[in-house]
Amino acid sequence: MNFVSSDDFSRSQINEVFAIADRLSHGRGESFIKEHAVMALLFEKPSTRTRVSFEVAMTQLGGNAVYIEKQHLQMSRGETVEDTAKALSTYCDFIAARLYSHSDIVKIAENSVVPVINALTDLEHPTQALADMYTVRAHKSDLRNVRIAFVGDIAANTANSLMLTATKLGSSVSLIGPRGYSPNSIYFNKAREYGTVDVYDSFDDGLEGADFVYTDTFVSMGQEADAERRRALFKDYILTDEALDHATPDTLVMHCLPAHRGEEITADVLDGPKSIVWEQARNKLLIEKSLIIYLSEQTDTGT
Ligand code: CP
Repeated sequence: MNFVSSDDFSRSQINEVFAIADRLSHGRGESFIKEHAVMALLFEKPSTRTRVSFEVAMTQLGGNAVYIEKQHLQMSRGETVEDTAKALSTYCDFIAARLYSHSDIVKIAENSVVPVINALTDLEHPTQALADMYTVRAHKSDLRNVRIAFVGDIAANTANSLMLTATKLGSSVSLIGPRGYSPNSIYFNKAREYGTVDVYDSFDDGLEGADFVYTDTFVSMGQEADAERRRALFKDYILTDEALDHATPDTLVMHCLPAHRGEEITADVLDGPKSIVWEQARNKLLIEKSLIIYLSEQTDTGT
């Protein structure tokens, strides 16, 4: 079993991962992975949280992680993604990969005999969405009564995974971005099969009733050459204290980090009392450990 897309897990599978996280957070770590299990961390983009939390997760579970930058692999000299996946899965028990092209991680999963985890591609960030919704659940136990507003680049990988995961769990999502700038139609239409997702171009309407307001960088990795145009495109969607006045008084602020204070969010909001961004970051470790345990259990039973 792999976790390449947020669409790979059903609602009950997400809840099984959350149940493992609950057990681990209460100190009941009875589920462990194979002793000395090794995870290949294949990264072609930078990472602070995801890389380090996966490495720490494997260590805390009794295994190890091997960090591999794509530029140091034979892939950089033309070896295919498929052959790389076959080789890595010969040596390792898991592969977690952060890649530009989503189709590359699909190819890795198709050619690996061990579980493959998406640690971010240009289309998705599924482990982030799991940690995010686990964080939301800590504040609002009934996820069916939750409204999450995503502000800014509503076509970004973070938005794609968040809307799939949130709607599967029964939460509604509002996407707030510039008029004429659309979410990714594949993810939007899929999420609307699972639940409620609406698109707005103003904070006024979009933040009404929002329990959580989520933003992310306006310039994702790989978009640096287009940074100036993108900052101009999203300039009216900076998350400020004034913008938050349109949400519920007890709304909480989320950001997957890294943050750019003064670009997509003000320092006052990011570092203010409504912010739960460091809780999100902390939960990445817990959720990744839980995901590794869950995938181990499923693989051991041949599912
Ligand atoms: N949220 C997140 O994926 O952070 P990193 O890019 O630091 O891994």
